[in-house]
Amino acid sequence: RMVKRYMACRNDIHRHDAPFIAVFKSLIPAEEELEKQKQLMAKLDNLVAKEWPNAKLYLYGSCANSFGFPKSDIDVCLAIDDDDVNKSEILLKLADSLESDNFQNVQALTRARVPIVKLMDPVTGISCDICINNVLAVVNTKLLRDYSMIDGRLRQLAFIVKHWAKSRKVNETYQGTLSSYAYVLMCIHYLQQRSPPILPCLQEMEPTYSVGVDNIQCAYFDNVGRLSTFGSGNRETIAELVWGFFNYWAYGHDYANTVVSVRTGSILGKREKDWTRRVGNDRHLICIEDPFETSHDLGRVVDKFSIRVLREEFERAAKIMHQDPNPCAKLFEPY
Ligand code: CTP
Ligand code: MG
Repeated sequence: RMVKRYMACRNDIHRHDAPFIAVFKSLIPAEEELEKQKQLMAKLDNLVAKEWPNAKLYLYGSCANSFGFPKSDIDVCLAIDDDDVNKSEILLKLADSLESDNFQNVQALTRARVPIVKLMDPVTGISCDICINNVLAVVNTKLLRDYSMIDGRLRQLAFIVKHWAKSRKVNETYQGTLSSYAYVLMCIHYLQQRSPPILPCLQEMEPTYSVGVDNIQCAYFDNVGRLSTFGSGNRETIAELVWGFFNYWAYGHDYANTVVSVRTGSILGKREKDWTRRVGNDRHLICIEDPFETSHDLGRVVDKFSIRVLREEFERAAKIMHQDPNPCAKLFEPY
């Protein structure tokens, strides 16, 4: 009888597709916003070309990985190929040029963990952070964007999960919950694990793109135009995937022993990563391997208090998806 009820519930889930698609559509930034971002980038490109002819500016983060919400600030990386770059010096010089170019609220934060210059562009109203030589972030941004072009369900799922995480206040790394980057990786991993899979594992395929960044070789198959029918053998819809995602993180994931890994498209053991105990501040209570910086656990910000908050929120979401007649309304109720 349980199986029957499960199947009934599973078939019934499709009536929630339309409301979820509506939420997704409401979260996509408008075309003119992207135009404004381009306009600002062109202005910054000009300014940088004058001061550092050999440097290059890259967008990274949500404004470039296709998982950005409307009205977000943009993240920019200034790549300078120089062996002894003094970041503080560059940031101060950059701040000077920005001020003379009439940018507003210009601030060089040279002592931050990731030193940046902040600015606001009075023409477009967009705020922007510029960091230096954070090339890994530029490369992992491209990986996320490439995954998003393979199957549209990734973008739908990730927008919904990010919107849930922001509504429920579990997208705050300084409070021990997970970054948006971590949530998107969890979504990619979930879709790699479906049967048949909705996403491939690009890093296990013959590389068509390869760059070395600070001793890490980043290589994967990026010819994603060739993969546009990859997921078509799987007919699961957005409501089913949202349900399955929360069900997995509420009841299916083995927190004690396993690591989710987009790099291998599989679940790894904590043992093989040596993530079985607390080292310094890294507790490894929920383990999400960074696809390139493989020694980096994106769950390392999670502590013994916030893991409970997170797991309770996953369970709440799973229960809503199982039982609530109108899950779309309840799921995103502000915390
Ligand atoms: N990043 C990273 N390692 C982390 C966190 C972030 O490399 N531990 C990089 C990624 O390139 C990511 C970018 O920083 O795309 C921005 O991270 P984050 O703010 O978590 O994600 P956004 O996509 O910008 O999401 P939001 O809309 O919440 O700003
Ligand atoms: Mg961001």
